[in-house]
Amino acid sequence: MSYNTILTEVDDKVAVITLNRPQVLNALNDELMDELGNALLSFDADDKIACIIITGSEKAFAAGADIATMAKYGFNEVYRGDFISRNWEEIRKVRKPVIAAVSGFALGGGCELAMMCDTIMAADNAKFAQPEVKLGIIPGAGGTQRLPRAVSKAKAMDLALTGRMMDAVEAERSGLVARIFPQAELLKEVKVIAKTIAEMPLLTAMMVKEAINTSYETTLSEGIHFERRLFHACFATQDQKEGMAAFLEKRPAKFTNS
Ligand code: CAA
Repeated sequence: MSYNTILTEVDDKVAVITLNRPQVLNALNDELMDELGNALLSFDADDKIACIIITGSEKAFAAGADIATMAKYGFNEVYRGDFISRNWEEIRKVRKPVIAAVSGFALGGGCELAMMCDTIMAADNAKFAQPEVKLGIIPGAGGTQRLPRAVSKAKAMDLALTGRMMDAVEAERSGLVARIFPQAELLKEVKVIAKTIAEMPLLTAMMVKEAINTSYETTLSEGIHFERRLFHACFATQDQKEGMAAFLEKRPAKFTNS
């Protein structure tokens, strides 16, 4: 499959999707979001892939939704066209782990796209912001909901009301980012993490993802009930038998994703 606005690469069991509109700092337009959704769902359906990385360029993960396109929109276009809902949330259907590898700007929709991923790894030059207020709009791709869950209400308000940029160190300290790497090492290091995840039993990794994501959608007691049922289901897999036998026999496990 060839795309105009993204690049795709497969490295063993890891798929890398690179946002590729360098002339506009990877501003997210309809074509890019359609292609990204298509690539994500294709890799999710591919049995050879176990983990997906979304990244951008050294200068920009993505500088937000495409302002040149949005500037022409009125209420009719965005409401009847179902802007954002129509094609930005395909990533939520992906059941395999997805890592955002963020270098440079992750602004507005770019920050929101990173937050839709399962975890965010940042380069030391990463900058995060929700600057929509300066354009006369509010964050529209989940920023007002995911950012406070990630960094606290106080910091989310600070960021979304001032539009200021937060650097990688502040983002890691605030809980938005899992780890920081030197910019030149980012993709190499994130591939190592993705390969580590890809070597885990796939069904179990998918259950970890599903259970943690459920914690954002439910009460504590319902979430724990859901976790307990998935935990019980693990005991129906071959990989539970193999993982525990390998531990007791002091040998590496050979998982079969079954
Ligand atoms: N949409 C469209 N084009 C964009 C863009 C965007 N979000 N961000 C940058 N570009 C374009 C610029 O217009 C410029 O194009 P030209 O060369 O044709 O002039 C090119 O990318 C390079 O950008 P700059 O010259 O501005 O580069 P810089 O290094 O001086 O500044 C920046 C970089 C600080 C990221 C600045 O480009 C900027 O502030 N961009 C906009 C960020 C923003 O407001 N994002 C939020 C968008 S709204 C949104 O995302 C809504 C939502 O919630 C879904």
